[in-house]
Amino acid sequence: MNDRIRTDIAHNARVWNYWLGGKDNYPVDRAVGDQVTGFYPSIGEVARADRAFLGRAVTHLAAEAGMRQFLDIGTGLPTADNTHEVAQRIAPDARIVYVDNDPIVLTHARALLTSAPEGVTEYVDADAHDPERIVAAAAGTLDLSRPVAVLMLGILNFVQDTDEARSIVRTLMAAVPSGSHLVLTHPTLEPELGGEGNKAAMAFWNENATPPITARSREEFASFLDGLDLLEPGIVSCSRWRPSDGESQVVAQFGAVGRKP
Ligand SMILES: C[S@@+](CC[C@H](N)C(=O)[O-])C[C@H]1O[C@@H](n2cnc3c(N)ncnc32)[C@H](O)[C@@H]1O
Repeated sequence: MNDRIRTDIAHNARVWNYWLGGKDNYPVDRAVGDQVTGFYPSIGEVARADRAFLGRAVTHLAAEAGMRQFLDIGTGLPTADNTHEVAQRIAPDARIVYVDNDPIVLTHARALLTSAPEGVTEYVDADAHDPERIVAAAAGTLDLSRPVAVLMLGILNFVQDTDEARSIVRTLMAAVPSGSHLVLTHPTLEPELGGEGNKAAMAFWNENATPPITARSREEFASFLDGLDLLEPGIVSCSRWRPSDGESQVVAQFGAVGRKP
């Protein structure tokens, strides 16, 4: 086993996998996952809505916006419909770079590297706090003179300082040209999304699991998209971003896609 993997404390990627119905988690992850669900019963719905949003956003970007390069930061453990599977179903030549800093994701990276023969998938073991390193590593696989879809789903919430989170996004989006896109999801306490219940759950998480998490207001979330053109319907519960079934339950997780003009 990778000696960076700790089985005595719950880890985000594994608990997220548990909420999604996956098997790549330990008893400590399941115990904390169940306790968080006790505080915030819709957390499983949030995780599923986030993944469904990923599927719809990547489908739109590959099928309608012509995107052929994807940089997915905060990949998570492999599950159904990973970014490369969704993108390459539409465009087999799509090139995908995954980035995560969790050792358990690294051990499963080979499952993320099953590219269509016409395309490429690469995995980079790096931290979101070091966007310059991510850009340098991505440049080995992606042509940064051509548009890139940068995905940061459920990860800026692990960057505690909002100014730093903004600066990370700015650095990444400065490295890609006009026509590139930013895809974001982020948890919130905003009552309009029913997020009040998240507060106790996050406090519990921060005392019992890792890494520490933070929620953001609509205004803070919007600031990550400054300077980009927001795609319709703008900043919404990720479940309400172009839902395929027309009606879907609001979850306390913002979702949005912006295009670099
Ligand atoms: C909530 S999961 C989301 C996974 C996937 N993006 C999704 O939306 O289903 C967050 C992921 O971000 C990763 N992560 C958290 N902090 C990170 C950091 N500082 N640098 C890189 N990855 C990080 C975790 O290991 C985990 O895989």
